Order: sequence, then structure tokens, then C-alpha cells
Amino acid sequence: MVRHSLLVSALVLLGATLSDAAPSVVSRRDVPQEGVSQAISRRGAAAAADPERIHAWANAQRTHLRRKYALDDAADEVQSRDTAGAATLANVQSDSSWTATFSVGSNAQQVPLVLDTGSADIWIASGARSPYSPSSSSSFTNASTAFDITYGSGAVDGYLVRDTMSVAGKTASSQTFALATAVTAGLLNSEISGIAGLGFQSLSTSQSPPLWSNVGLTSGAEEFAFFLNRQIQTATTSSDLEQYGGVFTLGGANSTLYQGAINWSNVINKAYWLITLGGVSVSSRSAASPTALDVSSTNKAAIDTGTTLIGGPSSVISALYAQIPGAQASASSQGYYEFPCDTAVNTTMTFGDQQYAINTQDFVAGATNRAGTTCMGAFFDVGSDANTRSLQWIVGDAFLKGVYSVFQNGSPARVGFAALADGLNSGTSSTTVAQTKAATSGAAAFSSGCVAVGLAAVVTSALLLA
Ligand SMILES: *[C@@H]1O[C@H](CO)[C@@H](O)[C@H](O)[C@H]1NC(C)=O
Ligand SMILES: *[C@@H]1O[C@H](CO)[C@@H](O)[C@H](O)[C@H]1NC(C)=O
Ligand SMILES: *[C@@H]1O[C@H](CO)[C@@H](O)[C@H](O)[C@H]1NC(C)=O
Ligand SMILES: *[C@@H]1O[C@H](CO)[C@@H](O)[C@H](O)[C@H]1NC(C)=O
Repeated sequence: MVRHSLLVSALVLLGATLSDAAPSVVSRRDVPQEGVSQAISRRGAAAAADPERIHAWANAQRTHLRRKYALDDAADEVQSRDTAGAATLANVQSDSSWTATFSVGSNAQQVPLVLDTGSADIWIASGARSPYSPSSSSSFTNASTAFDITYGSGAVDGYLVRDTMSVAGKTASSQTFALATAVTAGLLNSEISGIAGLGFQSLSTSQSPPLWSNVGLTSGAEEFAFFLNRQIQTATTSSDLEQYGGVFTLGGANSTLYQGAINWSNVINKAYWLITLGGVSVSSRSAASPTALDVSSTNKAAIDTGTTLIGGPSSVISALYAQIPGAQASASSQGYYEFPCDTAVNTTMTFGDQQYAINTQDFVAGATNRAGTTCMGAFFDVGSDANTRSLQWIVGDAFLKGVYSVFQNGSPARVGFAALADGLNSGTSSTTVAQTKAATSGAAAFSSGCVAVGLAAVVTSALLLA
């Protein structure tokens, strides 16, 4: 797990990393009605497309995901990449994070945290520029236990504490979390003060119960849900950096945000929110039927709000891009592929008995040349294969923006998806399509008529990280 001595060089004291700007509260925060929903915000793209930046970001994201999911056991490789990758992560990683403002301490200090279903620890920055000051909270308890985590997006050192913590109208009166004294450079900025892991306790480095099990919800039936708002637009001023990001609901699913049934998939084991992927299809030639890709031996998928793109096994990802004319492996970003931006690519992922179309815009991670003619695709090869025991897929926001997603503890625990309500995500949300049986085992054959997705126009150079 933690290779403390190796990490020290990558860690910096917090006072030095936080930006000079005063920590800002989420720009738009709906007052929760009936105490269960909360607006979340999303960092917008910071600047015009910069090919070098997107490659640096993509490389860092892949490296960190491989570490977050323990797909990478070559310690030296991890260490040497860490310093380089983490340094460049700052600018761009935050272009694609969804945060909610948590209220921490007896005096309700407002702390913006990334919501991350792919990890299970909560940590908050300490130090003069952190919005959280333990000394001003009368409910603060110092557990004084050292906490070191090699985290998906970097590394964090600190110690465990307890304090009262509220989000979406629910309160944990004594939540254990880490107060970070040092983090990898670039993990934080004025809009992100830490990460709130929403995975299961067995995944938690601090072995603490997750917040959702600690806020008074019915034990064994806890539920939370996301609508992640899509913003395909370029931020031109720093005040645009943080945008309305959607709604996080704790303690249920909000039926005004979705339509039709929630389709459920059982969690395979309670650590990540890990479910079975039934199939993936791709089509990029308008006349052709979608091509179904075989995922029968590579079908374990973690549903991860803390990941921007969609990582999958080498064989399936290369087969996917083989269907896109002009697509090729990126020379600058290992595991990623580039394709002509003017090609509209329709992809779907099947969970349960439903096939979900991924919006064409969400397939584009960003332009990789200044002319905006070459784009990076949202599906990338995370280096997994049929022999990877933990999982093969990491399904992030590029998929989740198209659906309403619901996470429910229980026996079994399960993840559900539903179509977004009309009007959400500009009316271009994905549409679920009833599938014939057998979607849970292997590739289903999809007929061309069965994908329904509101397509946006051709991708242009204006598209940035979405
Ligand atoms: C459901 O979401 C809508 C739209 O964001 C919001 O107005 C409403 O208060 C939410 N309902 C609950 C019970 O949280
Ligand atoms: C909490 O305990 C740790 C370890 O003993 C110590 O380093 C830290 O200063 C304490 N923090 C506060 C705010 O009391
Ligand atoms: C999935 O959703 C569809 C459409 O809303 C519904 O017809 C179907 O019964 C659902 N299936 C399951 C297993 O929930
Ligand atoms: C993508 O899906 C849309 C909506 O179903 C369809 O109109 C379009 O032809 C498809 N494009 C390709 C390249 O398959």
C-alpha cells in the first residue's frame, strides 16, 4: 500500500500547495428540500484546448487509476511516474471533478469535497488556507492515528480525526476522516479541499464506516444518487471555473430527476461499487449496424463518480477503436486513442437488461491538436485483461453524465441506472433501451434500430474536457 519514504518527495506541505485564493463555497447551492438533495458543482475547463495539457492529464489519470485500483504492482514504476504525473494533474484534473459542499464541525464550516464512489476514505486539507479549522469546532476529536494513503489521484499524509459532518441535509454526528497535513502537489485548489469516498468500509484505508452508513439512514438499505450535469463549454474567466454540476441526493433517489424504472445490477462484492457489464457496442459509420464487442471474460466494472473517463481492458478497447475510421493509438498518451473529431461515435454499455447510449459529446475527452481536428476518445485501455482479478472496467463520468445513477447498500448491494428526466443535460441524455434477455453474460447482439440517443452535432474544436 503506502510506500511512505518513496512518496515524501512528491508530497508538499499544505500551506504551500493551496492556491492564494480564499476557499470558495460552491457557487450554486440549492437549499435541500426535505433534507435529502444537494446541488453539486463541477469545475469547468480552464483554458482553450492545449494538446500537451490533455496528454499530461490523460497520462496522469491513467497512472493514478491503475494505482487506485491496484492494477499496477510495479512499485518503482508507480513512484517514478507519480512525481511527474501528479505535478501536471492540478490544472486539468479539476476540470472534471464534481464536488459538493460539506458542512463540517459544530460551527458548520463549508468544505468543498469531490464525491468519489471509487474510494472509501474522507480526507480534508488542514492548514491556514483550508476552509476547515478543527480548533474552532467544539465537536472535533483527535483520534491521533497516522493516516497515509496512496490515493488514486496522488498521495495523502495526515492523521485521523472525528467531527460532525453534514451533506445533502443529512448529518453524521461523529464521522471519522483524515486531516491531511501533506498531499501530492496539485490535488487541491481553491475549489477542492479534499475527497469524500463513498465506497464500502472494506475498501477504507482508515477502516472507518462510510458517511452514508453514518447519517441515520436505515441500516442495510442506505441509498444515494447522482445527476451529473453536463457542461460542454469553455470557461473563459476564472469565475466560470466552477459550474452547476447537478444534484447529489443522500437517503433516496429523487424521482423528479429521472424517468422510467431504475434498472438494478447487484454489486459483486462490497468494496468498490462493482457490477457486471453486459456488453459494449460501437458504431461510427452511419449506415452500419453497431458492432457488439465481446466482454464476456472481462465484465467486472467499478462505477466511479471520481473518474472522468471510462477505462477498460486492452483487447476490448482496441477492438472498439478498430471500428472507428482513422482512429489510432495515441503516440503521446499510453492507453489512449485518437480519432478524427468530425466522426460522430455512438457507443453503448449494457448493465442489467438495459443498454445505455453514451452521448456522442461524452465520447470526446478533448482535442489533441490545436486545429481541433484530432480528438482523444473517452474510452481508454487501463491495462486490465481477463486475468485481472479485481476488475476490468472503471466506469466514470463520461458514462454517468448520461444517466441517473443510484447506489444502494443491502443484501445484495446494487447500483441502478435510469434515464434522466426530460430537459436534464440539454435534453441529450441517453435513453435506456429494453434489451432481450441474456445481457448479463457476454456480448449481446444489438440490432441497429435499438440505440436511441439524442445526438449533438459534430464535435468541434471548441470541445474540451467534458
Ligand atoms: C428533487 O430534485 C428537485 C430538482 O433539483 C428539487 O427541487 C427537489 O427539492 C428534490 N426533492 C427532494 C425530495 O430532494
Ligand atoms: C492530532 O494528533 C496528531 C498526532 O498526535 C497531532 O500531530 C496533531 O497536531 C493533532 N491535531 C490537532 C488539531 O489537535
Ligand atoms: C428496466 O427498465 C425498463 C424501462 O423502464 C423496464 O421496462 C424494465 O422492466 C426494467 N427492468 C428491470 C429488471 O428493472
Ligand atoms: C448514432 O445514433 C443516432 C441516433 O440513434 C443515429 O441517428 C446516428 O445515425 C448514429 N450514428 C452512427 C454513426 O451510428
